[in-house]
Amino acid sequence: MKILFIGDVVGSPGRDMVKEYLPKLKEKYRPSLTIINGENAAAGKGITEKIYKQFMEWGAQVVTMGNHTWDKKEIFEFIDDSKYMIRPANFPEGTPGKGITYINVNGVEVAVINLQGRTFLPAIDDPFKKADELIEEAKKRTNLIFIDFHAEATSEKQAIGWYVDGRVSALVGTHTHTQTSDERILPQGTAYISDVGMTGPYDGILGVEKEAVIKRFLTSLPVRFEVPKNGRTQMGAVLVTIDPSSGKTKDIERILINDDHPFFG
Ligand SMILES: [Fe+2]
Ligand SMILES: [Fe+2]
Repeated sequence: MKILFIGDVVGSPGRDMVKEYLPKLKEKYRPSLTIINGENAAAGKGITEKIYKQFMEWGAQVVTMGNHTWDKKEIFEFIDDSKYMIRPANFPEGTPGKGITYINVNGVEVAVINLQGRTFLPAIDDPFKKADELIEEAKKRTNLIFIDFHAEATSEKQAIGWYVDGRVSALVGTHTHTQTSDERILPQGTAYISDVGMTGPYDGILGVEKEAVIKRFLTSLPVRFEVPKNGRTQMGAVLVTIDPSSGKTKDIERILINDDHPFFG
């Protein structure tokens, strides 16, 4: 069982990358499940129903979110009806949407969980405790459990990776928009990477126009961050290969596509 996960898709440059490269990646790797982090898909902030549906049309089956979940207000209109869109599960009780979904992949059920870290991010519920709870729930149905851990601090990501090792098939980090080269299989069979990286502008800073970010550092004045409309683009993704009977992962491959790392089909 191969699962392809695409890191934070930022604005229209990111969506264009998904549209262009998802079919190529599918042809090359033949994943049975594709998951996209879509928290920045609408102009860098949040997601719309139209974009969620486009991701599904282009070949994704599950969309995960993060700290930008609520940035587009229309999400409140469709999140509860979107079976395969999940937001961090450790958002406070009573928050719209859900943090876990189950998808049938060729007769095998896969649980996908979204969690968010608390270091340098809002103080939401404990992601470790929530992971325990949801893994226990998912284990009643399947051994195939995939977690998108949306967090800033590498230490928190590594901690939760080790914490869930052997209990889930993969835990991949998102949110920093910068791919890390620490992909590995932890000793008990859980695939891990601190951050999958982003999908969108290649010459900006974390997906937004670099001039505004530099001005902010130089002046500390409030500036408006916009996703560049033109220019070079990139994609950050990972492919994990899981033994479907045990739920243990056998391989994790990091995928980075940009002008410095061209894609070979
Ligand atoms: Fe993001
Ligand atoms: Fe984020």
